[in-house]
Order: sequence, then C-alpha cells, then structure tokens
Amino acid sequence: MRGATDQERDSARKGQSTRNNGTILAAAIGTAALAGLLFGFDTAVIAGVTGDLTRLFALTPETLGVTVSAALWGTLIGALSAGKPGDSFGSRNSLRVLAAFYFVAGLGCALVSNWSAFLVFRFICGLAIGGSSVLAPVYIAEIAPARHRGLLVGLFQLMIVIGILVAYLSNAAIAGLIGDATAWRWKLGVTAAPALIFFILLFAIPDSPRWLMTRGRRDEADDALARIGLTPEAAAAELHRIEQALQRDPADEKLSWHRHRKPILLAISVAMFNQLAGINAVLYYLNDIFARAGSLSPDRQAILIGIANLVFTLVGMALIDRLGRKTLLLIGATGMVLCLGAAAAVLFGAIANAVMLPALIGFIAFFATSQGAVIWVYISEIFPTPIRARGSALGAGTHWLMNALIAGVFPVLVAWSPGAPFAIFAAAMVVQLLVVATFFPETRGVDLDLMAERMTA
Ligand code: GLC
Repeated sequence: MRGATDQERDSARKGQSTRNNGTILAAAIGTAALAGLLFGFDTAVIAGVTGDLTRLFALTPETLGVTVSAALWGTLIGALSAGKPGDSFGSRNSLRVLAAFYFVAGLGCALVSNWSAFLVFRFICGLAIGGSSVLAPVYIAEIAPARHRGLLVGLFQLMIVIGILVAYLSNAAIAGLIGDATAWRWKLGVTAAPALIFFILLFAIPDSPRWLMTRGRRDEADDALARIGLTPEAAAAELHRIEQALQRDPADEKLSWHRHRKPILLAISVAMFNQLAGINAVLYYLNDIFARAGSLSPDRQAILIGIANLVFTLVGMALIDRLGRKTLLLIGATGMVLCLGAAAAVLFGAIANAVMLPALIGFIAFFATSQGAVIWVYISEIFPTPIRARGSALGAGTHWLMNALIAGVFPVLVAWSPGAPFAIFAAAMVVQLLVVATFFPETRGVDLDLMAERMTA
C-alpha cells in the first residue's frame, strides 16, 4: 500500500473488515455520544428552574449568578483535569467515573435541602460535563474509521444539540404535568435516568484499541479490533500501523510546547473562536435578545432557533468529511460575520426589528454547519495518540473558560449598549476567517496515526 492515500488505505481496511456488521462499533460510538446528550441537557436545564431556586433559596441577582455559574466553573476544572486520567486509564474507563458523577449530581440536585448543597451538586455536574467534553470525542475519534471520523465525532455535537432541545421540552412537560413547588426537583432529577443508562452501557463497549496499544496491551487491542468488526488480517495490519506510529514518536509521550506547539495553538484557537462567535450568549439569553428587538413571542422564536440548530448540525455532519473542516469553518465565519453584523445593526437601531429573527436563524445555521460541527472533531484528531486526552483537555478547557467569561460579560455589555456584543462577535469572526485561512491545516480523511507526523515539530 506504499504511496496510497490515507483514504485509500482506509477503504482497503474497510473492505477487508467484514467479520461482523459493525454493531459493536455503532454501539460504542452511540454510547460515547450519549455524553453529548447529558452535556446539552445539563447545561440547558438550569434555564427552567432559576425562578424556583430564587424563591426557595431567597437568591439575589448576585447569588443567582453564582448558582448558574457553579456548573460552568465545574466544566472548566473537569475539562482541564480529564486529560491525565484519560491518557493513563483510557477514555472509556474514565467516562465511567464521569457517568457516576452525572448520576449522583442529577439525584443530588433533585433532593437537596439547602443552597450550598445545590452548588456542590451543580459543580459535580459541571465536572462531568467538562470531563466528558474531552473524553467522549477522544474515544470516538480513536475508534472511528478515518474517512467517517468527522461524521461520527460529529454525533457528539448532534447529541449536545438534541440534549439542549430535550431539556427545554422536558422542562415544559414537567411544568405542565407536575406544576407544583416540587417541579424543579423533577426537572433536574430526570437526568439521572440517562446517566444510569450511560454508566451501564460503558461496561458493554470495548476500550479504544489505540489507547490499549499505548499501554502495551496488544492482545486486548487485537480483541477490541475484532469486537468492532475487523478480520484477523485487517486487525493485524491495523495493530502494526498503530505500533509503528507509536515507535516513531517516543517524544509524544509528554505533551510539550516545544514539540506540540502546532496542535496546542490549533486546539486553543478553534475553541476560542467557537465561543467568540457568541453562540452561548445567544442561546442562554435568547428570550431577552428577542424581547429587546420588540418580539412579542420570544418563547416560540426560541424554539425555532433550537430547531434550526438541530437541522443545520445535520447539514454540517453531512458535509464535514466531504468539504473538510477548514472549508466549513471559512464558509461559517463569512456567514456569521454577515448575520451578526445584521443583528448588531438591528440593536443599534439602524435597520428594522423584523430582521432580528432571520439574522439569528442565519447565525445559528452558519454556526451549526461550521464551528458547531467542527470543534469537537478537530480538537480530538490533531494530537498524537499518547497525549490525545491531555491535548484535548487544553482545547475543551479553553472552550469552557471562554464560555463562562462571555456568559458573565454579555449582560453587562448589553446593559451598556445592546448592539455592542454582536459587533464584537462579528469582528471576532473576521479575525477567525483570517486565522483559519492562513494557519489551519485540513484534517479530513487523514489517518489518525499519521496525523502526528503532520502536526508535530
Ligand atoms: C457547540 C459549542 C457549545 C454550544 C453548542 C450549541 O458544541 O461548543 O458551546 O453550546 O455548540 O449548539
């Protein structure tokens, strides 16, 4: 296969791998993607309980802010600390611990009797969200065939978006069904059920064969490859390739600025621009934004935004392995500049209020097809295998830090000048366009084991 392209090598391997129909591979990827559902649900669910919490615990605007951000600070710490256990114990095994955290946090939030206990459980929930935003994409990237890697890691993002929608729908359904003073406990507690399912399923799926090889566990790696459908011949070839990649790069055992400058800068910048698009400011403060633009039905418009996010995430997933990550980022940045610019113009009073809804739907569509579809894929594929989780933790950590900062600063900026944050987001997208066009390499279809060669100094 000398001289063959990465895609050809991948197709050849795929052609040989007919031992089973890939059910376990699908189950493994589906299970890891469940972490996305919990991520989306648990970040968005809080929107439906802030009123009850304020009454019950007599919260002031400041202590409400602390309550909402308790989980966000947990996500930052969870993301930054997930790398070491991910590389040492494997992403699947570490995800089991996080699944237990999700479960305990869901039950805990539902049963608490005082405010400090609530903060502790939301913080634990944040640890699980942040940690799994590192480990689930890493697991999927390592087990997915190269030519479908973008689509399959993209499932994680799809599940995030579905989780956000499910949280809004579940909040509304529980409010309708229970409607008394305990409703908020159910809204937060229902997440324990998918968390338990996630925990159990994590015992039914194999470890990542690539991670097993980094620990010298060849037989188990062979077994894992057989379980995900490779024939003995294909598995032997795969093991050989992984082994060669690992031997070639002993320097990759340690994450170092000197050697891994390139993937570190890429991971940090893709995550930074992801949040500088303003996506979570828009999602968290949606009703408020529409109300400022004179809308009388912000709830219904919010649902339209949620649906647009879901639909265009599917579009992004369909395109990511065809057009590539870089092209999607370039198209998305261009579209977002225009839509964010239009939103700013509405809020500055320069154009009609009616432009707000199409501008925000356009913004969500361009975000979901580009940054939304790309971020978790790109971060999980650019680092060499032995340090993938540690490297991904830097990218995911940047994402959560920027998320917390922007969510905190947005209302302050809006109070000063409603159009200003949108103008800033638009300017950030112009910078993204230039940075991506100049520095970002395309990673579509590149074999994960060969990526290190292209990314390291
Ligand atoms: C991406 C962003 C995340 C956001 C989500 C919304 O995953 O990284 O912050 O909440 O998209 O669709």
